[in-house]
Amino acid sequence: MKKSSCWPKLLSSSPLLLVTGGAGFIGSNFIRYTLARRPLWRILNLDALTYAGNLANFDDLSAQDRERHRFIHGDIRDLACLRRLFEQDEISAVIHFAAESHVDRSILGPEAFVDTNVLGTFRLLEAARAYWEGKGRPAAFRFLHVSTDEVYGSLGPQGRFCEDSPYDPSSPYSASKASSDHFVRAYFRTYGLPTIITNCSNNYGPYQFPEKLIPLMIMNIIEKKPLPVYGDGQNIRDWLYVLDHCQALLSVLEAGTPGETYNIGGGAERSNINIVHKLCDLLDSRLGRSGADSSYHLIRFVPDRPGHDRRYAIDSSKIQRELGWRPEHDFEHALAATVDWYLQHLDWVEAVRSGEYRRWISLNYQKRDEWCRGGEAPG
Ligand code: NAD
Ligand code: TYD
Repeated sequence: MKKSSCWPKLLSSSPLLLVTGGAGFIGSNFIRYTLARRPLWRILNLDALTYAGNLANFDDLSAQDRERHRFIHGDIRDLACLRRLFEQDEISAVIHFAAESHVDRSILGPEAFVDTNVLGTFRLLEAARAYWEGKGRPAAFRFLHVSTDEVYGSLGPQGRFCEDSPYDPSSPYSASKASSDHFVRAYFRTYGLPTIITNCSNNYGPYQFPEKLIPLMIMNIIEKKPLPVYGDGQNIRDWLYVLDHCQALLSVLEAGTPGETYNIGGGAERSNINIVHKLCDLLDSRLGRSGADSSYHLIRFVPDRPGHDRRYAIDSSKIQRELGWRPEHDFEHALAATVDWYLQHLDWVEAVRSGEYRRWISLNYQKRDEWCRGGEAPG
């Protein structure tokens, strides 16, 4: 049965959310989505603006929404900064997105993942706990930790991850997220901090940094660059449109139960090669390419990602049953809308591709060339 949305009334009529990592892909979509649907809510957006965080993601905020959104340039590892933030404002809830989020980067440089995802989450929990205890442990306070299905590891051809699937992470990224999940759960059990964890499948949509599969392939097709498909291209992900994820997070924040975990998935399982073919079709029709000029000719199978999880699939029946959430966007339509968004926002892509981005792209794909020539793959 669907629970009513009671959370904001418990603490304040105009709640103030502390959103960490709000300048990234999902965080910025969440902020835009929430400001539009909750006209009295205010948001503090704490972000370190790494390569993945971009204030250009807020260029289209209306003047009214701008007044309810305050950006703070800061790092979740900086406990003094976090304490100052909690001291200055009456915070109703924390929505924790800030993370290093790219698996390939975690393979080539794992330490940043331990630093931000584990230590940063721990510091944020400490600051939130001190604030919450200082306020007399208000029951309405929430610490919503945004995590990933990758903590559960890899599936064979059958089955889906549910909330009690054992943790079995394969990459430094998923190991660091698993570790942060354990800390969040421990703070509920040990201190009673009202934490909730969500584990979500792969997102796609506007403002995704062009290093992840879908935006990388879209941009490479547009620019007629090779399309690097890892391994045999048969790895499967369960794709969710980012605005469906935002709606799920809002439902969990407003009606979820502290101490609980909610799995969120799109029910749209696709192999990587299937996604690449679809993107070639969508862009060929929009760019008037066919025959010898078709983008299919750009596809290259490259050496596999070490520790590459074969399949992810999410059982979302708990959040559907308890909170009444379900994905509203159909995969084919939302993928086409995403392609159109990138075609209409080439200036945004240009703005977020820093020198660091170019260095990363050449390092990641040059490593694959080296593995191909017989060099050792890490792991
Ligand atoms: P992203 O990489 O696009 O954004 C991460 C944001 O965090 C950036 O704005 C970055 O500047 C900020 N950040 C990084 N380190 C920081 C630090 N030390 N202090 C403060 N800010 C910092 O990531 P995303 O794809 O938007 O993912 C957001 C969250 O959702 C992550 O926790 C990720 O694990 C989780 N998640 C992502 C997906 C997905 O498909 N993208 C799926 C499930 C869960
Ligand atoms: P990615 O978008 O990095 O998300 P995740 O690894 O967190 O699922 O990758 C999605 C899938 O696409 C994954 O199986 C790896 C694959 N992939 C490629 O085949 N080529 C690429 O260039 C990238 C970035 C990913």
